[in-house]
Amino acid sequence: MSKYMQLFQGTSFSSKSPTEIQVLRDHLYCINDDGMIERIVAPEDAEYASLLDAYQGTDKFQRLEAGQYFLPGFVDLHVHAPQWAQSGTALDIPLYDWLNTYTFPLESKFSDLEFARTVYDDVVSTLLANGTTTALYFATVHKEASLLLAQICASKGQRGLVGKVVMDDPEQNPEYYRDADTSTALADTEEFIIAVQELAKTTKQGVYPVVTPRFIPSCTDEGLRGLGELAAKYDTYVQSHCSESDWAHGYVKNRFHKNDAFALHDFGLLRDKSVMAHCNFLEDQDAELFADTGTAIAHCPISNAYFANSVIPVARFHAKNVEIGLGSDISGGFSPSLFDNIRQAVISSRMLEDGVNPSLPAEDRGVPDSRITIHQAFYLATAGGGDSLSLPIGRIQEGYAWDVQVIDTSIPSAKLPIFDEHEDVHDIFQKIMYLARPEHIREVWVQGDKVHSR
Ligand code: GUN
Ligand code: FE
Repeated sequence: MSKYMQLFQGTSFSSKSPTEIQVLRDHLYCINDDGMIERIVAPEDAEYASLLDAYQGTDKFQRLEAGQYFLPGFVDLHVHAPQWAQSGTALDIPLYDWLNTYTFPLESKFSDLEFARTVYDDVVSTLLANGTTTALYFATVHKEASLLLAQICASKGQRGLVGKVVMDDPEQNPEYYRDADTSTALADTEEFIIAVQELAKTTKQGVYPVVTPRFIPSCTDEGLRGLGELAAKYDTYVQSHCSESDWAHGYVKNRFHKNDAFALHDFGLLRDKSVMAHCNFLEDQDAELFADTGTAIAHCPISNAYFANSVIPVARFHAKNVEIGLGSDISGGFSPSLFDNIRQAVISSRMLEDGVNPSLPAEDRGVPDSRITIHQAFYLATAGGGDSLSLPIGRIQEGYAWDVQVIDTSIPSAKLPIFDEHEDVHDIFQKIMYLARPEHIREVWVQGDKVHSR
């Protein structure tokens, strides 16, 4: 009789395309034992009434109340979990100085598993409370603490993709924070991959190991080559920082006489399962290489405003068929919320298009056709992230995981400005995008399991 594990009733917003929103009013969402959306049933469908009859009043049924909406869970394509401990601070100096002054000393403390547990417990819970159901994490160079992060994702029900960071070049990294040597870095990475693949078998939502050279400047050629081989051998995800700032981009040009994209490709690190953070300085042929190899970009708009010395031309890369998702880049980006990053993506793109230097004539200030809409930014945070990872997530659609956030626009302490009960749902969607805060996120579900509620 009750064929489905759960049945939800309510209105949902999801991306139909990068520019269009799909609104399903008062639909039924039928979730199977695997936590996947097996059927979506419209009110006019014949089965609607009989399904309601069968499930209403049982503990498998949940109807959203007035003012509540389903959104897909967010996919954060770039988070440094250890840096959560310094979020909001230390943003006053350039990338190279920031790494050496603040970030490497902090990350070195994750050799202490108790400290690691405290921070990692908190960052995973915080991201879930912000609606992030899938996160692609950088941990630190420490194998044990990196595995602990994967275990915490597994036990809290978040879909975590976790990388043990590789920094094997003794010339480029401080003695107190780097891999002992290249062969240890590769052996630790291999053991980490095997351990996380084992751990994944115990989870419903999946956890995944990620091959993670921090960025080219922190790795030797031998290290990069070995990591490319491990990614192929175990068919893993790969993540790194790519062409982020003037300094990082210039360093790679000097060393290899080519851009990051081609250098990474030479080492086997651009694959369908690769996600490269930032990518501000990608040239056209780099973007084409990304599209050809299936490599995705993690666009980190808040962080880019501090460290990147430029604004990424999202619209131009989309036109070249490059997959793009959104990343918080904690703590280069101060906010754990992809809502904040959605807003910044739109704001930054408008500043790129319109230009900001009033001493230039208006027509010379900006880069034409750079603007993205709030709908496009929402797409990046959801479906774009899911496509980047080649996982069935980020959309409320049959065959996708039941990874959702329940947004409540009518909580008394923080009501959104909706005064007309017949207000157009597309306006409500935009109000949610611009005004929602964590207190509006009532519930978060991953793969059919409730993992957060307030
Ligand atoms: N490049 C190398 N490491 C980092 C990091 O931790 N954050 C950012 N934003 N860029 C990096
Ligand atoms: Fe980063």
